[in-house]
Amino acid sequence: MCGIVGCILDKKVAPTIIESIKKLEYRGYDSVGIATVTDTINVKKGSGKIKEVDDEIKLTDIDGNIGIAHVRWATHGNPTKENAHPHCDCDNKISVVHNGIIENFKELRQELIQEGHIFKSETDTEVIPHLIEKFMKEGNDLLKSTQLAIKKLIGSYALAVISTEEPDKIIGARNESPLIVGVSDNGNFLASDVPAILNETRKVIYLEDKEIIQLEKDKVTIMDINLNPLEKEIKTIDWNPEMAEKDGYDHFMLKEIFEEPQVIKDTLFESEKIKEIVSKFKNFNRIYFVACGTSYHASLVGEYLIETQLGIPTEVILASEFEYFQKTLDDHTLVIFITQSGETADTIKALKVAKPVSETLAIVNVVGSSITREAHHVIYTRAGPEIGVAATKTYLSQLICIYLLVAHLGENEELIEKLHSIHELSLESFDREEEIKKIAKRYKSAKDFFYIGRGFNYPTALEGALKLKEITYIHAEGYPAGELKHGPLALIEEGIPVVGILPPGASYAKTFNNLQEIRARGANMILLGAENDTQIDDVEDKLLFNSTIDEIIAPLLYIIDLQLLSYHISVEKSIDPDKPKNLAKSVTVV
Ligand code: AGP
Repeated sequence: MCGIVGCILDKKVAPTIIESIKKLEYRGYDSVGIATVTDTINVKKGSGKIKEVDDEIKLTDIDGNIGIAHVRWATHGNPTKENAHPHCDCDNKISVVHNGIIENFKELRQELIQEGHIFKSETDTEVIPHLIEKFMKEGNDLLKSTQLAIKKLIGSYALAVISTEEPDKIIGARNESPLIVGVSDNGNFLASDVPAILNETRKVIYLEDKEIIQLEKDKVTIMDINLNPLEKEIKTIDWNPEMAEKDGYDHFMLKEIFEEPQVIKDTLFESEKIKEIVSKFKNFNRIYFVACGTSYHASLVGEYLIETQLGIPTEVILASEFEYFQKTLDDHTLVIFITQSGETADTIKALKVAKPVSETLAIVNVVGSSITREAHHVIYTRAGPEIGVAATKTYLSQLICIYLLVAHLGENEELIEKLHSIHELSLESFDREEEIKKIAKRYKSAKDFFYIGRGFNYPTALEGALKLKEITYIHAEGYPAGELKHGPLALIEEGIPVVGILPPGASYAKTFNNLQEIRARGANMILLGAENDTQIDDVEDKLLFNSTIDEIIAPLLYIIDLQLLSYHISVEKSIDPDKPKNLAKSVTVV
C-alpha cells in the first residue's frame, strides 16, 4: 500500500514532488521520504505523517531536478525513520522507492550480506538498491541493472530508482502494484495513482505488469521485461486537479460525502453503457459478487436486489476467501468484482481465478486501474477521486451501478425511474446534519455501538458499523434485526447506543418488533425511519427521511446520514477521519 512518485523537471523538483506525494498520503502515512540526485544522493525522511515530518525536517529543503518520494504503510519492519523509504545501496549512489512486497527478500538479503552488502533497515525493499548496486558494479548501466535486479524478485513492486552514476533519469518498473506515467511539456512523472500528477498533467500512460520505464526530461521509454521498446497509448484523464483538493472542507471525507448528490447524477449517466453490457450477457444461472470492505457491503445489497428482483441465485464472497470457492465456477456463472481502487490485491487475485472459467464484470472507480484491464466487462462508477480512506461517495456510486445493472437485467423501468428521484432525496440528508452533530456529541464516548437492519438494509447496518469502527475506533457491530435474539442480545445493556434502520416496506413490522426488544433491554435507540411513522414518536434520537423512500431504495439514502454520523463522532474525538490509524486506502497486499 505505500505510494511512490518520481519526477524530472528543469527546476528544483522537491516542492513539486512533495505536493505530489501529499496526494498519495491516503495510501499510507506511517512515514515519508524523498531523495534527489545531484552529484550525490540527497535523502530526507522520517516517520509520521507528511505534515509532521515536514515541520520537523523541511522535506522541500533539498536540491536537485530529479527526485523520488514515498509514503509508507508498513509491512516489513516498524514505521521508523530507518525503515522509511527511499533506501540506498552501500555507497549511497543508488536510491529506491517501492510499493509492494518482495516475497523472497530474506533469501536475497542473506545472499547479499554474504557478498558483503551492509543493510540499514528491516525492510524487504532494501534488497533492491543492493541488487542494482551489485549489477552496476559488474559493468551494467542503471537500466540493465534494474532489469537484472527485478528478474530476481518474487512478489509485487512498483518502483522508482535514481543513481548518481546516471543523474539524468529515473528507472521505474511495475509488477502487481499500480504505476502510471504522467507526461507534460514541463517534465515527466511516475506515480502510484493519478491524483499525484493532476496538478502537473492530465496525460497519462498506464503501465502493465513486468514493464520497465526509463524517464528522462524530454523522453519516456517504456519497455517489456527484456527491454524491448513498447508503443503505449497516452490517455487524457477527465479528472481535474480541484477534484483532489479539500475545496474549503475541513476534511476530504466531508467533502466527499457532500459530493454524493452529484455522484448520483454522474453515475446514472452510465445507464446506457450498463444496458449495452447487459445485452452482451448470456443466460447465467448463478451470480457471484467478490469484493472487500465497503465494496463487499455494496455487493451484499446487490445480492438482496438480484435475488428478490430477478430470482437468480447469488452469493457474495470476500475476495480473500474466493479461492476456496473456485471449484464451483462454471461458464454459466457471472462473477462481479466490485472495487473502488481497482487495485485491491485480494480482488485482483480472485479475478485471476475466475476469469479463465466464468464471465467477469468489474465495477470500478479508478479508470485504467489493474482490474479494469483484466475483467471481461467494466462498468465505471463516476465518483471522481476519493482521497478519504473511508469510502463514502464511491460506495454510493457502486450501489447506483448495481441498481442500474439489476434494473437493466430485469428490464425494470420502474426501478430506473425511482433511481432518478434519488438525487433530490439525497440533498435532504444535509438538512439533518445539525441533528446528526447533536447525536455525535451525545455518543462520542460510547465504547460499543450496534447497527441493526433487515433485508436490503442489513448491509446498510454493516456499512454504518464499518464506517464507525474505521474513523472513530469505537467497537461497532452490524446485525440483521432478527438475529440478535440468537445471541448478541446478551450484550445489550442500559444506555448502549443502537442504530435502528427502519424504512417503510415489507420488513418494517418485523424490524420494528426486533428494535422494541432491544429498547426493552435499556438500549439508547438512534432511529432512522420515515417522517410519517407515528410508531417512533417516542424515540428521542431520530433521523427522519422522506416517507417515499421505501426499503428497496433506502440503502442509497440512509447511508449518507450514517456516514455523517461517523464523521462527526470522529471529529468530536479529535481523530483525523481522512487518515485512520493502521489503514490505507488501497490495499495492495494479500
Ligand atoms: C472502506 O471504507 C475501506 N477503506 C475498505 O474497506 C475498502 O472498501 C476495501 O479495502 C476495498 O477497497 P476497494 O473497493 O478499493 O477494493
